[in-house]
Amino acid sequence: MSSINSRRSIRKYTTQQVTDEQVTELLRAAMSAPSAGNQQPWRFVVIRSRELLEQIPTFHPHASMTPQASLIVAVCGDMTNLRIPERWVQDCSAATENLLLAAHEMGLGAVWLGVYPTEERVEGVRQLVALPDYIMPLSMVAIGYPAEQPPAADRFDAGFVHYDHW
Ligand SMILES: Cc1cc2nc3c(=O)[nH]c(=O)nc-3n(C[C@H](O)[C@H](O)[C@H](O)COP(=O)(O)O)c2cc1C
Repeated sequence: MSSINSRRSIRKYTTQQVTDEQVTELLRAAMSAPSAGNQQPWRFVVIRSRELLEQIPTFHPHASMTPQASLIVAVCGDMTNLRIPERWVQDCSAATENLLLAAHEMGLGAVWLGVYPTEERVEGVRQLVALPDYIMPLSMVAIGYPAEQPPAADRFDAGFVHYDHW
């Protein structure tokens, strides 16, 4: 509960690098997400190349932190053999949220960068990492050791909740 309630978007990072073992742990958490009919449509591209990280802000207007991140995980959906095609976005969103929570729990900082369905961002990611046609990028998650510590934000609002009837 404390990890869920204290997670914030982290957009400033130290130069300390996230290890390959930590990346595997993060991806294990992502793949533990629920998915419709357990179809697990998620696929991931781990981007560590400085050259690639520096290119991301050229096609994504809210990704200025990517050159400083240790890595980016592009969360993508595989459009082939989907059992419940209309649910891939929810499935990959659940995986993205798991990545954010796992990063925070591990003492890392992360931020969700929206990609799908904004066409120029989808095309930008597609070209950046040479995605095949049947792979659709949903989000990118920038990850690194945090160089900022925004306070927990309690957003509970009883007015958003209805019981039995609206
Ligand atoms: C679908 C989605 C897309 C987002 N896209 C971006 C983005 O492109 N750039 C960015 O800096 N933050 C992005 N965010 C992070 C939000 O700005 C952030 O979650 C929100 O302001 C709440 O702040 P918090 O995460 O610190 O609690 C995105 C979040 C979601 C869920």
